This record gives sequence, C-alpha cells and structure tokens, in this order.
Amino acid sequence: MSIYTATTTAPVNIATLKYWGKRDKTLNLPTNSSISVTLSQDDLRTLTSVATSEKFNEDKLWLNGKEESLGSERTQNCLKDLRSLRKQLEDSDSNLPKISEFGLHIVSENNFPTAAGLASSAAGFSALVVAIAKLYKLPQSFSEISKIARKGSGSACRSLFGGYVAWEMGSEEDGSDSKAVEVAPVEHWSNIKAVILVVSADKKDTPSTSGMQTTVATSDLFQWRIKEVVPKRFEEMKKSIIEKNFPLFAELTMKDSNSFHATCLDSYPPIFYLNDTSKKIIKLVHAINDFYGETIAAYTFDAGPNAVIYYLEENESKLFSIIYKLFNKVEGWSSKYSSEQLGEFNQEFEN
Ligand code: DP6
Repeated sequence: MSIYTATTTAPVNIATLKYWGKRDKTLNLPTNSSISVTLSQDDLRTLTSVATSEKFNEDKLWLNGKEESLGSERTQNCLKDLRSLRKQLEDSDSNLPKISEFGLHIVSENNFPTAAGLASSAAGFSALVVAIAKLYKLPQSFSEISKIARKGSGSACRSLFGGYVAWEMGSEEDGSDSKAVEVAPVEHWSNIKAVILVVSADKKDTPSTSGMQTTVATSDLFQWRIKEVVPKRFEEMKKSIIEKNFPLFAELTMKDSNSFHATCLDSYPPIFYLNDTSKKIIKLVHAINDFYGETIAAYTFDAGPNAVIYYLEENESKLFSIIYKLFNKVEGWSSKYSSEQLGEFNQEFEN
C-alpha cells in the first residue's frame, strides 16, 4: 500500500486595497479588484500537510491539533475542483495512480490566533489548495490554482504569491478571469516591513462574509466606493509599487482602509471593526508622519481592531522610538532619539 504526501506553508497577506463585497457568493467573485502585500513566511503562516492512500475512505481535517468538519460548501468546492483536475491527468495518462478517488487526510497549523482579523482564512485556504495541488502534481500555474483558493476564501487567492499581489476581479460569470497575479516580487521592493499591533486576539464580532453581504445590500457609500474610488486607486497603487513611491503607497493604503471602514459604518445595521485603541493608532500614525515632516508609516485594518503598519526599514528606529515610548517599554531597546526630542512629540500628540 502506498501513501502519497505533500507539505506546504502559505503566508498571510494583508490587503492595502481592500476586497469588500461579492457579486457571486458561491464562487466568491468580488465587486472590486484588490491589492495586498504578502508577509514573510517566517512570521505569520499556515503549515499544511496532506496525505492520501487507498486505505483512506473519507476526507478528514485536523486544524491546530483538533479534528474539524470538512463539510463546509467552500472547502467541498475546493476539493471538488482539485480532484477533477487530477482526474483529467489520470484519464490522459494510464500510468498515473488513481489517487483522485482516495480520501484525503489534512493536517493544518497556524502560528497566530485564528479568526482575529489576521487573515487566517487566507493563509489557511491557500495552504490547503497548494498542498493538494502539489500532492496531485497539477501542472496549472499559480494564477490558475488561485481561482480554486478564491472559492475557499476570496483573500486566499492572493496568498499564492509572495511580494505585491493583485486580485483582478474579472468580468466572467463563471469566475474564469477572477484570479491573483503578481504585481512585483518581494525583491523588487524588499525594504518594506510590516509590524502588527495586536489590539485584541479575540474572535471577530462580525465575520467578513456576512459583514460584506450587509454592506453590499445596505450601504450607499459602497456603490461610490466600487464604481468611482477603487478602480482609480487600483491603478495608482500598482504604479506606486512599481515606482517604489512609499509616500504615495502609504497615502493610498491609509485612505483605502478608512474608505472600507466607512462603508462598514454606513451599513445598516452598522458594522464596527475599529475600537478606541485602533483609532488612537490611526491618530498616532498621522502624528508621527507630521512630526517627522514625511510619510514614514501607513496603517491598515482588516475586519478587526488590529493594526498593520507598513514602513520602510530605514525608518524603523524613527517609528519604533515613538510606538515603544507610548505603548510599551521594551527591554534592551535603545532609541536613536533623545528623550527631549520624543518629549516634544508627546506634547504635540497630546495637544
Ligand atoms: C477585510 O477573504 O476573509 O480582509 O471571501 O468571505 O472568505 P471571504 O472573505 P475574506 O475577506 C477579507 C476581507 C478583508 C479585506 C481583504 O483581505 O482584502
């Protein structure tokens, strides 16, 4: 008896131009294109191993050490698509073992809190789909495979690529052109870094899927966002990445986070993802940029209160001097900036 196995890791991606709204719920087709930055595998990631054998007569999943149901329609859609691609291979080459008929055993582990607005479903579905595509030795490109991950969770399609990634919304009804593409590899602009300020690791109040349904159905602002704001911003943001223009990239990122949260507030009943600490972080980042007289940091928030702050590596000390001073005292950290300099910041910030 043979056992076939494959393992992969998939990183978290954080959108700088947000996906919020579906035009087709089953296929996860979005109402706008989006852009994200994929974080390093060393930080936040899902590790997934899959095994299949003729002895396995059903599909099983263990998530973070606990057996979970594989019954969700989304997961079933992904498994169905992957099996059907494998079956096509088996039908065209009789030497291939017919493993598409066997059960799959899937073991998956996150190294960060699940469902706390840290894009766990993105890394989770991306790792699931890539691990099975590897197991099945599928020849399709990552963009093609991203369409399957998209059916699991929309944002998952972007985690198949590293670096800077666009999810092109497409216009076909069957979703055949709604896929992730690389805008630029990580090496193109490797000195961008992200820090996550975990405001709360609790499960989010309103899951993204139901939150976006409410917004699509009730928000007037949302119509303006998808028709007028995002199409233009999508092109501008891609350009800012290609040209490595951090001030522009940062401004577009912050504006898009605010626009997304504004449509949440404009939903009926309203959806609140930001809390008072999140709002304090927003004010702080603007105050830091004002204090230094240049845009050195950009915040963005997903469907939760936790902040992701993008900055250039050379500005790390400038940024952290202030963050650590206000939020925490960190052992062993010494700032390049004097207490007097930072004291001035404190006074300005408090005012
Ligand atoms: C705010 O991809 O989690 O993080 O497709 O319903 O699974 P589903 O939603 P999901 O939504 C992500 C929303 C977001 C923005 C983004 O990542 O683009």
